[in-house]
Amino acid sequence: MIVSIDTAAALLKSGEIAAIPTETVYGLAADAFHLQAVKKTFLTKGRPPDNPLIVHISNLSQLQMISRLSEEHRTWVETIASAFWPGPLTLVVPKSQRLPDMVTGGLNTVAIRMPDHGLTLQLIEKTGPLTAPSANRSGRPSPTKAAHVAYDFDGCIPVVDGGDCKIGLESTVLDITTKPFAILRKGSVGADDIEDVTGIETIYRTGSTERKSPGTRYTHYKPDALVQWYDKSSELTESSLLVLHTSEAMNSFDDLLHYKSDFHAFARDLYDIFRTADHKNKSHIFIEPLPSGSENPILLALQDRIERAAGK
Ligand code: TXA
Ligand code: MG
Repeated sequence: MIVSIDTAAALLKSGEIAAIPTETVYGLAADAFHLQAVKKTFLTKGRPPDNPLIVHISNLSQLQMISRLSEEHRTWVETIASAFWPGPLTLVVPKSQRLPDMVTGGLNTVAIRMPDHGLTLQLIEKTGPLTAPSANRSGRPSPTKAAHVAYDFDGCIPVVDGGDCKIGLESTVLDITTKPFAILRKGSVGADDIEDVTGIETIYRTGSTERKSPGTRYTHYKPDALVQWYDKSSELTESSLLVLHTSEAMNSFDDLLHYKSDFHAFARDLYDIFRTADHKNKSHIFIEPLPSGSENPILLALQDRIERAAGK
């Protein structure tokens, strides 16, 4: 059911959960300091308890409730925040002891971000910091529309409808507790963007990051249809969906999406494409390989999500 910000705030303060819009994907929010509410998000999603949650804030004064920052960390957080917050970047920093261990899956670090969505910023001003994993059932594609949340949870979760998500892929997760800084999950903010702002070397640490970013260990982003890279040998049938970016459109094929090299639009639509293919009972989603050799963070993030959806 769709609810107003005031209703959502009242529900969250009383220990209920509610879905909230962000610029990346919809989140399943709970009061970060309410143990039963946080527990409910894990249970509702079917999420393993060792996969930590991101805490969402609306202003920098909330940092001290959830993190324990040295002078050095504080300087970096403020520098990075002034460049990228509110926005699609999550920072992993040392955790405050006051924050329940359940939020961080027992880790002594906490992931924090300030989302770029007016309704959710207003909501957090009323409630204080909110944990919010993506509002999908565990292992399924993230929701980028209020209707996706309603579908995944049979309409049983209150949703603040903030329209379609502008970015459509989850935030970049950046660990600043080690040097070089390490990107644990790719997103639309890239390593070069962080280096430009901080002057600190920043690397992508996906693949070997399993201990540091538990979430990357689990199956993710998977529709029922098989996701495969398109090549000349791909057999298109009436149960296929084809996504092209640069090559000539095949006018003879019905179920074709052509993004004309607009990778932001493709990223925004990716999870909706996955979900729509399932509703249409498609057996295969064929995607034209992305241009290689690019450092464009959106392309790197798309490559990562598609490979995971393809089960690699
Ligand atoms: O864009 C987003 O980040 C969305 C919106 C709702 O904000 N949220 C989201 O949350 O994608 P979730 O729970 O689906 O993914 C959080 C990721 C997981 O891979 C998790 O393992 C990682 O962040 N993470 C959380 N806390 C961490 C920590 N202390 N250290 C390392 N990784 C952490
Ligand atoms: Mg998720």
